[in-house]
Amino acid sequence: MKFAGATDPNLGFLSTRYPSPLVHIGREYKTVAEAFRACPSQVQKDLERREEVMRELIHAKFQQNPRLRMRMMAIPLSESGVWRDSSGQDADWVCALVQRYRSSLRQDHYNQIDKTVVERSSLVQWNNAVKSVLTSIMVPPGSTVIDLCAGKGGDLHKYKHAQVQRLLMLDVAEASIQEAKRRYENSSQNTVSATFLVQDCFVPFHHKEWVADVVACHFAIHYAFESPEKVSHFLANAARHLKPDGTLLLTFPREDKVRTFADTDTCSVTFSGSDPSRYTFFLRDCVHHVEEYVVPIAQLKHAAERHGFQVEQHHMFSDLPILWKNQPLWNTLTRRLAPLSHDDQAVFELYQWMLMRKTN
Ligand SMILES: C[S@@+](CC[C@H](N)C(=O)[O-])C[C@H]1O[C@@H](n2cnc3c(N)ncnc32)[C@H](O)[C@@H]1O
Repeated sequence: MKFAGATDPNLGFLSTRYPSPLVHIGREYKTVAEAFRACPSQVQKDLERREEVMRELIHAKFQQNPRLRMRMMAIPLSESGVWRDSSGQDADWVCALVQRYRSSLRQDHYNQIDKTVVERSSLVQWNNAVKSVLTSIMVPPGSTVIDLCAGKGGDLHKYKHAQVQRLLMLDVAEASIQEAKRRYENSSQNTVSATFLVQDCFVPFHHKEWVADVVACHFAIHYAFESPEKVSHFLANAARHLKPDGTLLLTFPREDKVRTFADTDTCSVTFSGSDPSRYTFFLRDCVHHVEEYVVPIAQLKHAAERHGFQVEQHHMFSDLPILWKNQPLWNTLTRRLAPLSHDDQAVFELYQWMLMRKTN
């Protein structure tokens, strides 16, 4: 495909063949062209579908490669030559698409900046990378997933990339569930059929129409450790909604790290009061002095066994760079992230993940 930019070495990055690693529907590609070639031939032949997919790929390219996005934004629209083919005729269709969607790419760009401000550090992005990899390797395409304590739906696109078919997101916070629903309704190309409900996940509940392949709970089970009853209700809820052999996927803080955490300007763990398992957690711009509870691993495993779960995998976040050193998605995602500062590394290492299998 030829376009005027192809003859200008400064504009070659607009080409669909320019090396710009991107993840699309859970798979990594080196270029937009490669991702497009991987699409079924019906898609490639059908004009409408072709445009739709190419638009998605161009979005993915510029969303996932911030430097290219900045460069693209820097080309003035008045430089119409960029968007025309070398014979001076109409822009070729890829360039026309980039041009057409430049304003929405710009919007994404500003949203991204807003998000970066809110998320403050790359810590959240590293945690997101862990969840992305876990979702991509533990959640088979076509699955039904229940996300307990799902928050504001920040993981929606991870489920979309994993090609989840049905998704139930539950959280006790009504505002978070509304935000998750809003994000879902505003996102283009919803291939996941998602339902959002306000639900206390630490009391018994049964949504009979939901039988899941995977129940996930990220960064939240520690709140249940306020009492053995809450832990038990949480596990019973998960078991009740899982198919036999279903997966329970958890990320949560490590007791040993929490108890020995050395406070920094951005993060503190404060044990005080009569309950030795309760602490106050502060993470600047993310978690403001929230009461949390240590998760004694032996206690979690015993309680889980009582509800028919068996631990299959259990890893510390601190081990992931070695465990996943050959994991393609992990490498793609983390290559783009700023390295963690010394202080943020300590917060990252507070966490662990566990995969349990429902055995009966
Ligand atoms: C740290 S956030 C994690 C959100 C999301 N899972 C994620 O990984 O981004 C913890 C979430 O747990 C939710 N939560 C706390 N207690 C809960 C309960 N009893 N039932 C349901 N959700 C709860 C909070 O409202 C909050 O959204």
